[in-house]
Amino acid sequence: MIRNETKQNEMKQQVAEAALEYVKADTIIGVGTGSTANMFIDALAAMKDEILGAVASSEATAARLSGHGIDVMDLNEALTQVDALSVYIDGADEFDAGKNLTKGGGGALTREKIVAAASDAFVCIVDESKQVEHLGTFPLPIEVIPMAGALVANAARELGGEPVLREDFVTDNGNIIIDVHGLKITDARGLEDHLNSIPGVVTNGIFSHQGADVVLMGTPKGVKVID
Ligand code: A5P
Repeated sequence: MIRNETKQNEMKQQVAEAALEYVKADTIIGVGTGSTANMFIDALAAMKDEILGAVASSEATAARLSGHGIDVMDLNEALTQVDALSVYIDGADEFDAGKNLTKGGGGALTREKIVAAASDAFVCIVDESKQVEHLGTFPLPIEVIPMAGALVANAARELGGEPVLREDFVTDNGNIIIDVHGLKITDARGLEDHLNSIPGVVTNGIFSHQGADVVLMGTPKGVKVID
């Protein structure tokens, strides 16, 4: 088990470092959340003077960026200076052959989707365990305004899923997360749209509209570029 974890961390480290190639000098970039994104942030520290700044997808990421002396910018402020962030770099919980993703294992899905939407390209950094035929093995997170929890849970049951409230968790936006287990997602875009149409849903963890442009997948043989 510990050996597998070490191998997985090595693969994450490889893709975190490979993602530096997608960071263009004199631009503002978007930075994701999670253990792979953290490795990227640590690697980015070496080139912090080359970029204008970074927009963070969570409070945790903002703190880590600041800890390295990287200038953290508010998205609204950034978009007064540039038309778009040059690239968004983040991990994922799953990705399929169409580069659709599920995200939100860390609960930062809404800000992640916003920063991804504000970026010219999304470079997704994952180890090979995240590759799936169909999204849905990883429970699908939905960020929900608290008063709509039961309404959204009922809608998830109607879709054949099993909704589970994420215990003792509040998002950076003050909302709850419902993780939906047991969905086999064959129409990622359709389900993303459907779930987002339920009143009270802030967003769900399917990234089809904001899917990856490039996936850097860590394997025991090195980094595989899927574009
Ligand atoms: C955070 O909310 C998530 O979307 C992460 O990007 C995702 O959970 C991947 O995290 P790891 O890099 O820790 O696997």
